Amino acid sequence: MSYNRPFLSDCITFEATPEHVASAYQDLNRVMNPEFVHIFLDKIERYARKPDRALFLVQYQNSTIAFTTIIDKAPVPDELTVEQATPLMGYSCATGLMVLPEFRKKGVASLLVKQWEVWSREKGCQGIWVVTKKMGEWYRKHFNYLQVELIERQGVKKTILKKSFPVE
Ligand SMILES: CC(C)(COP(=O)(O)OP(=O)(O)OC[C@H]1O[C@@H](n2cnc3c(N)ncnc32)[C@H](O)[C@@H]1OP(=O)(O)O)[C@@H](O)C(=O)NCCC(=O)NCCS
Repeated sequence: MSYNRPFLSDCITFEATPEHVASAYQDLNRVMNPEFVHIFLDKIERYARKPDRALFLVQYQNSTIAFTTIIDKAPVPDELTVEQATPLMGYSCATGLMVLPEFRKKGVASLLVKQWEVWSREKGCQGIWVVTKKMGEWYRKHFNYLQVELIERQGVKKTILKKSFPVE
């Protein structure tokens, strides 16, 4: 790993409050599908406001370059068996992760995925789960997530993965 350390050390990662939402939206919405930008705005507003969830932002030179959202408890997908679903009920769920294209492959997402763990442990969760269309292998290879199941919804294939925290 040869990340650009000077760049990363100039990045500021923090848990956002509602006051941060407008500028984050302004900086990030250009990469969202224009049809769904209102959903993105509504989502980051809720994650910044509600106590059971969090919006983390990364700023570089006073501009937002990445975000992630995570929730303490989320409904587990119906497609899972009881054996698969039950452990996830005590896990947090990461529900969004995006780095602006020009800042990718510099370690920014890795900062945020580590932040999921810190936040989830503080909340007393036993692990984290995530659903992804294309990045299942990435979560496995780089962050040691395990595949729980492959599902298909309205013709779209998705992978559910989890990472369990060791019992202390
Ligand atoms: C996926 C995404 C979040 C990665 O962000 P990033 O900041 O580039 O990730 P990092 O720099 O922390 O990369 C961590 C590792 O993954 C690798 N990597 C990054 N993007 C990758 C990709 N698309 N495919 C395969 N490997 C990738 C990096 O090279 C790095 O590997 P290394 O540790 O061996 O050097 C970013 O590409 C993105 O926002 N994509 C669009 C939205 C998305 O797919 N979100 C996640 C889906 S749930």
